[in-house]
Amino acid sequence: MKKIILCAYITLAAAVACTPKASPSSTDAVIPEAASVSSDQATIDAGHTIFTTKCTKCHGAKDKAVASKSYEDLRPVLASMSKKAKLSKEEIQQVSAYVYANAKK
Ligand code: HEC
Repeated sequence: MKKIILCAYITLAAAVACTPKASPSSTDAVIPEAASVSSDQATIDAGHTIFTTKCTKCHGAKDKAVASKSYEDLRPVLASMSKKAKLSKEEIQQVSAYVYANAKK
């Protein structure tokens, strides 16, 4: 009986802990909107370096996925991927600049 209660508790705790991550408002807080993305070439280049190093720990460079989607569609992806790659705020600005420059227009 104790085990069942413990299992239920763990399941509930996991559900609560995981829910807020997917909310759209967290995307807005983390990933810059199209209008505020840097178009500075040095920032874009720095973003490219992150894209081909820190973003390739789990998969190859996602150039095709980026080129086939609009920046708006990619923002939620970037929000979760930036967390996965543990990027700093500055790195997020840089990688966003690179993705914006290469996303479908
Ligand atoms: C901890 C592992 C991990 C890291 C680090 C990571 N990703 Fe991903 N990424 C995934 C997984 C898992 C998927 C889904 C499976 C796939 O498409 O390979 C994915 C998918 C994607 C996709 C395709 C989404 C789609 O809709 O087709 C893009 C684009 C992407 N990642 C970009 C990035 C970028 C940019 C970074 C760096 C900021 C990054 N990823 C870092 C694990 C990771």
